Amino acid sequence: MSVQMIIVPLLFSICIATLSLGCQVKQHIEGESFICVCNEEHCDSISTEPNSLDDHLTIFQTDKSSHRLAKSLIHVNDLITDSGEIADIHVLINATDRKQQIIGFGGAFTDATGININKLPDSLADKLIEDYFGPNGLQYTVCRVVIGGSDFSDRPYSYDDVENDFELKHFSLVNDDYQYKIKYIRKALNLTSDLKLFGSSWSPPTWLKTSGKFNGLGILKDEPGSIYWKTYANYLVKFLQAYEALGINFWGLTPENEPNVGLNPGWRWNALGFTGSMMRDFIKKDLGPALKAAGYDKEKLKMMIYDDNLSNLNYFINGIVNDPEAAQYVSGIAYHWYTRKYHEALSEAHYAHPEYFLLSTEACEGFRSTEAHLTLGNWTRAENIAADVIEGLNNWSNGWVDWNLVLDENGGPNWAGNWVDAFIFVNDSAPEYYKQPMFYAFGHFSKFLRPGSTRVGHSISAGMVDENVKITTFLSPSNDLIFTLLNRNQKSIKLSIAGFDEKPFLFTFEPRSITTIIKPLK
Ligand SMILES: *[C@@H]1O[C@H](CO)[C@@H](O)[C@H](O)[C@H]1NC(C)=O
Ligand SMILES: *[C@@H]1O[C@H](CO)[C@@H](O)[C@H](O)[C@H]1NC(C)=O
Ligand SMILES: *[C@@H]1O[C@H](CO)[C@@H](O)[C@H](O)[C@H]1NC(C)=O
Ligand SMILES: *[C@@H]1O[C@H](CO)[C@@H](O)[C@H](O)[C@H]1NC(C)=O
Ligand SMILES: *[C@@H]1O[C@H](CO)[C@@H](O)[C@H](O)[C@H]1NC(C)=O
Ligand SMILES: *[C@@H]1O[C@H](CO)[C@@H](O)[C@H](O)[C@H]1NC(C)=O
Repeated sequence: MSVQMIIVPLLFSICIATLSLGCQVKQHIEGESFICVCNEEHCDSISTEPNSLDDHLTIFQTDKSSHRLAKSLIHVNDLITDSGEIADIHVLINATDRKQQIIGFGGAFTDATGININKLPDSLADKLIEDYFGPNGLQYTVCRVVIGGSDFSDRPYSYDDVENDFELKHFSLVNDDYQYKIKYIRKALNLTSDLKLFGSSWSPPTWLKTSGKFNGLGILKDEPGSIYWKTYANYLVKFLQAYEALGINFWGLTPENEPNVGLNPGWRWNALGFTGSMMRDFIKKDLGPALKAAGYDKEKLKMMIYDDNLSNLNYFINGIVNDPEAAQYVSGIAYHWYTRKYHEALSEAHYAHPEYFLLSTEACEGFRSTEAHLTLGNWTRAENIAADVIEGLNNWSNGWVDWNLVLDENGGPNWAGNWVDAFIFVNDSAPEYYKQPMFYAFGHFSKFLRPGSTRVGHSISAGMVDENVKITTFLSPSNDLIFTLLNRNQKSIKLSIAGFDEKPFLFTFEPRSITTIIKPLK
């Protein structure tokens, strides 16, 4: 059953302005939240400007029951002063305690993304790109581009499948680049001139690998410094140059997507295995010098090591960053969320090596074989995304990049059958696309924590920590204080917030909600 209606944001008793988003609601699963439908007749947009106003709290709320980044305002004179007793949680913000800066938020240009956008009429395809990059969308600023094919392609391939072509004479971009990636990257660049793109390769040409295959256990043949390793380094450089020749410049690069999985004999899709010491030697003997010779120094291109799940992070990176010859080429550490709950690994890396930034470079829901891949209107997944972003930020991460920007109703296409969920999916049989709750949940970060925003300290009174409540606090480049809270509880919670306005005040957060509160810092 589907319900069609336009959402009207709930009116707080003390709010003086609201903004209707015009989400065209469709609810598919009993007990779950809803998706917003976009077709040629109607599509919601998220215009939140101005995000702050003097003497007011500007509030944005997304929740399970009815709101999608709904905006409201409260004048500071109407705030309820804290009498010191009735709050569930007391928070103290310290805006002078400055921590890391945001690099940005975004998603990935994969073949699957373009294959799906291509199904839409041009006007809807443009609207979808605006939803992610436009001023009335999520305003993405950092995006990943797959180098060659990944599992989210209709087949495995590389840019040079001519056996033993060590000079890469036959290297060339393929039709997939033009039809699925470049076309939409250009549209995104049109809306975001300072978009930061980074590349990640899944598998190199198979003739460079011990396995001779795209999947399974496979490492580069021979040893670091040999022609096989040098050719892979040159292959990555050629990719950067080929896109640059088309006017698309890269900001960053990871030497390999998920190097751990290429050491697994049963691995089902494109991979290339590296241990930490292999990656160290690849960077110092092959990739670093090749990038440098081609003019991609650290200023021009940020090399991010690791690009794999959190659990193994410090073990893998330590050998690289502790070797000055390898470390000279490295700018950041990239991580994936698939073993969540290990965000302390980020704090550990930050305190040991504060000169490297930390970026979450891939995440998606529905990746386990035991669960539904794409589920419509799933609110738990929106909460999982928000919780992961907040815990990452509170453990010194500088940003978060989603996986496929767009998938189909099955969570594909994926040649290896590794279907997953996405913030936006398209309908295979009608000119429509849908925005999941995750899309709006993530908007609380991408829209308000703009690049250059600085995390500031906050503390929660002892004895009142609730695992279902996650908070992070930031200061924007224009000096707005930003308070973001995820409440996973089935009930509303009341907070006493100090350090935001002159006096502590009480604020009620709705059940199953994500709330952003913004106020210019005096
Ligand atoms: C706020 O943070 C600053 C900088 O870290 C620190 O010097 C100061 O003591 C903190 N204030 C409180 C009340 O904790
Ligand atoms: C970029 O924007 C301009 C002006 O809005 C438009 O004419 C042009 O077609 C756009 N280019 C792409 C690739 O979408
Ligand atoms: C995460 O990385 C570990 C260590 O490399 C690996 O054993 C595990 O399979 C990975 N987990 C997932 C979900 O990819
Ligand atoms: C760091 O991450 C861990 C694990 O996800 C989490 O329990 C902890 O609360 C995070 N640290 C902070 C300061 O939020
Ligand atoms: C919603 O997502 C959660 C987390 O992935 C999952 O456990 C749950 O089964 C999903 N709900 C439905 C109805 O598929
Ligand atoms: C996709 O379109 C078909 C045909 O109009 C419709 O039956 C189906 O419910 C749509 N899918 C979703 C997820 O709404």
